[in-house]
Amino acid sequence: MLVHLNGKLVPHDQARIGVFDRGFLFGDGVYEGLRAFDGCIVGMDRHITRLRDGLAECRIPWDAGRMSALSDELLEANKLRDAFIYWQITRGAPAPGEPPRARIPTGKMTPTVMGFCYATPPLESHTSPATKQVIAARDARWLRGHVKAISLLGGVLSAIEASEAGMDDAILIRDGLLTEGTSANIFIAREGPGGETRVATPSLESAPILAGITRDLLLEAMPTIEVRAIPARELALASEVMLVGTLTMVTSIVGIDGRAVGQGKPGPAANALLATLVEAIRRDRARQERPALAVRTAASTTN
Ligand SMILES: Cc1ncc(COP(=O)(O)O)c(C=O)c1O
Repeated sequence: MLVHLNGKLVPHDQARIGVFDRGFLFGDGVYEGLRAFDGCIVGMDRHITRLRDGLAECRIPWDAGRMSALSDELLEANKLRDAFIYWQITRGAPAPGEPPRARIPTGKMTPTVMGFCYATPPLESHTSPATKQVIAARDARWLRGHVKAISLLGGVLSAIEASEAGMDDAILIRDGLLTEGTSANIFIAREGPGGETRVATPSLESAPILAGITRDLLLEAMPTIEVRAIPARELALASEVMLVGTLTMVTSIVGIDGRAVGQGKPGPAANALLATLVEAIRRDRARQERPALAVRTAASTTN
């Protein structure tokens, strides 16, 4: 696998990052996870905006707009058209002689920019939602959940707890409200007062969660989805609970803490969300109207 490191494409086992890099020492950096289907990257502009906002909040000087061309280079170098693409931008390492662990960054640092990609299934294979059994756990992550920070220990520990309990993942609850999954946003479906099914997802104001690109695509395509604070007790009333994300696509949560959700299998709401997402991705791809990767010019190696 060829990875992108500071402007160069290098075999992954030859890529090297210094031990004083603040990403390694402090988790001082941000990341993006993107998905390419048939050579087109889903929602690139949205990913660039989110990365730009995260870099600005963290005061890391890097031009997020470069992620688009660099992603194309990565795909082309690895000869992939259906792939997950990961980018990580850390603050970098202090100059020689500067204290490596000063909380306040001293001197001029050059951000470390690293990206890799690996093959994932094509869009056509997403015909029905995947399923997961989860635990409901206390959301003990930091309070800046809107920043896509590389320090993911809170989510990692919840996922490990889930695995130790024989489950696939965790969904998180803070102050009695549903927040999100460890690596995806959450949606619920429940019956409204007139017997109709209503789909809802936590609002960004109700909890410190990530504004997921997949969540955004779904909210744009389905304006009837409610965006509000969701008390955790609604989980017991839900006919369906779903996770949505770049890699997750739409995954049905079929059991929580060993109790079946609804019919214990993907239902109409999950199927509708997945069909809507696949359609939104197709539209996004058609809008881009980009030439096939194979006929574009060779990768440059500038950063
Ligand atoms: C905590 C968290 N929430 C939500 C998401 C979904 O975001 P997106 O749809 O942009 O992949 C992710 C994806 O990594 C995540 O880590």
